[in-house]
Amino acid sequence: MLRNNTCRIQNSGVRSQNKKNRYSGFWILISVFLILAVFPAYSYAGHLEPFKSAPVPNQNPQTPEKIELGKKLFFDRRLSGDSTMSCATCHMPELAFTDGQDISLSYPTTKNWRNSPTLINVAFQKYLFHDGRATTLEDQALFPLMSAFEMNKNLDYVEEQIRVVPEYVEAFKKVFGGEVTRQRIAMAIAAFERTLISVNSPLDRYLKGDKNALSEDAKKGLRIFEDKGCLDCHHGVNLSDDKFYALNVPENPDLMDEPRVTATMRFVAKVYHYKDYRNLKEDPGRYLITKNKKDWKAFRTPTVREIAKTGPYMHNGIFATLDEVIDFLDEGGGKGNKALKPLGLTADEKKYLKTFMVEALTGEEIKIKYPELP
Ligand code: HEC
Ligand code: HEC
Repeated sequence: MLRNNTCRIQNSGVRSQNKKNRYSGFWILISVFLILAVFPAYSYAGHLEPFKSAPVPNQNPQTPEKIELGKKLFFDRRLSGDSTMSCATCHMPELAFTDGQDISLSYPTTKNWRNSPTLINVAFQKYLFHDGRATTLEDQALFPLMSAFEMNKNLDYVEEQIRVVPEYVEAFKKVFGGEVTRQRIAMAIAAFERTLISVNSPLDRYLKGDKNALSEDAKKGLRIFEDKGCLDCHHGVNLSDDKFYALNVPENPDLMDEPRVTATMRFVAKVYHYKDYRNLKEDPGRYLITKNKKDWKAFRTPTVREIAKTGPYMHNGIFATLDEVIDFLDEGGGKGNKALKPLGLTADEKKYLKTFMVEALTGEEIKIKYPELP
């Protein structure tokens, strides 16, 4: 029996030897096909890419004059109902275009209910807002303007207020060949936002071949980031897959303990036709937009570029530090979630992961000269 077996193996060995030449071309073709078929799939399924320039929509090309106009509007307090707030109030250049609060600032006497995300690299995002309710920066910009708890501005009124400023009238004519409209206000702001890109971080330099760009600890952290599944969701140039997951992050207690936050949550849910909005006790996340059960409490995977500067973390700012975020991920996320699994990281591994995120993902500082407003 044993001998027979050996025999058979030897025989088949001889057979393949004989056929080798005849079939080698065939196998080379198959291999090339496999490499071509598998490689692109691999590159979508979670790899890292160095920074590149952001996509620009054909309908709103970038020009230096448009970017400059958008920058002025971004910092202009005329855009809020009582002229106390600009976009920069909640997206401050000094705080990586966040406001550094757990729950964001808000229009005077009201309260916000979610964390203000960084605007760095928003140009790469397919979905905007934690629940993805806008898909272009041009659409997005009018939301905070109108929002009762953000800038609380009437759009007909803002158009008139900008139209009485000769410098603005002149600038809109030059940039758009026409008058001030809400859409053009949004287009100019979007053009400015598309310039806020994280460039030349140590990770970028490392990916481009500079093996000394990362410290040994950061390299160990990168390996953990790759091996422990972070890359499944945080990948590509913006370290985000543009998808939505329910990690079941703990609720921010303010949601129920601070009546004005509760009111804001109910108001948003009502606007999005959530029937039982008065009994809502948690943030429904993406569900508000899709009404699809699988999106209950799902939030968009955020970028982790510039993460050292963008805390507090998560859609509701519930974690003040990266250590808390890492502990949460290590435990496999919040109660009942199906997106994450416990990781069993050692104290050293947690330290390396943090070192990687802090050291490797911070790009060149985006220096903004505050514009002189007309
Ligand atoms: C009162 C604070 C506040 C002001 C003022 C404000 N924002 Fe925001 N911004 C937020 C908050 C909070 C969110 C997240 C809201 C959510 O997801 O529901 C956000 C989200 C965004 C996003 C989406 C980012 C992402 O990662 O999805 C963009 C872009 C943005 N704001 C731009 C602007 C612009 C432009 C202005 C001025 C026209 C502005 N914001 C004014 C607080 C503010
Ligand atoms: C299943 C997809 C998924 C995986 C896997 C995943 N994340 Fe995330 N991550 C998310 C989502 C979604 C959020 C936002 C959750 C929220 O806002 O409630 C997030 C938030 C974060 C934040 C906070 C970002 C911010 O600006 O608030 C950090 C940091 C982070 N993840 C790092 C990691 C690391 C490190 C790993 C690996 C140990 C990892 N993530 C694994 C989807 C994922």
